[in-house]
Amino acid sequence: MKIWLDTANLDELRKYRAICSGVTTNPTILLKSGVTIDTLYTQINKIAEIIIDCPISVEVTEKDPDEMVRQAEMFKDTNRNVVIKVPMSPEGLETIKLLCDQGIDVNCTTCMSAEQAYLASQAGAKYVSVFWNRVSDACVDPITVVNDSVEIIDVNSKLVVGSIRTIRDVTDIILKTHADIITVPTKFLDGIVTHPKTLEAIKQFDDDWSRLFKPREDSEK
Ligand code: E4P
Repeated sequence: MKIWLDTANLDELRKYRAICSGVTTNPTILLKSGVTIDTLYTQINKIAEIIIDCPISVEVTEKDPDEMVRQAEMFKDTNRNVVIKVPMSPEGLETIKLLCDQGIDVNCTTCMSAEQAYLASQAGAKYVSVFWNRVSDACVDPITVVNDSVEIIDVNSKLVVGSIRTIRDVTDIILKTHADIITVPTKFLDGIVTHPKTLEAIKQFDDDWSRLFKPREDSEK
């Protein structure tokens, strides 16, 4: 399963670029990362300079298909690695078809059921994003939704799992689903990497390394 980063923060992207093969954003993530409408296009290009040759999902917010396509074309003109995120809706499905007919890659977002995932892939979405914890909030088992989605989407579509809220979600998704991609907010990667016992072990080795260079009292005599 590939790892994407669910952030637009440049420092966070730099920190984990070694394990990253894609980036997802949405308006909430952009807002949290301090991006404004004036800096959006520059930020997309900066992200592409850090996460090289990987898909960067940017979400359209218009409601009418022609308007969504116009917004998508502006995003796509910014950088060739941009993938257009289109929310699930009847207009969204129409937009996905229009964009795919132009050869523009789409990530259909906000999918909460396998049936939605199926429709998104039928419309031509290259990526279909299922929202793990929002599915769970609706008292539905996200493992079933993700695995059913993987089973029924077109072979040319890839299943992305987003909406991660804990480190355990990461483990469950990798262990218990057949998704192609998991998109993770970097704070959970921080939590995984900086395990307290890992930090303790490194400190011990650092301390003992410095002791290696201190002459022992008995050898000085
Ligand atoms: C995925 O592409 C989305 O950006 C994201 O994971 C949504 O998660 P949320 O439920 O935290 O908004």
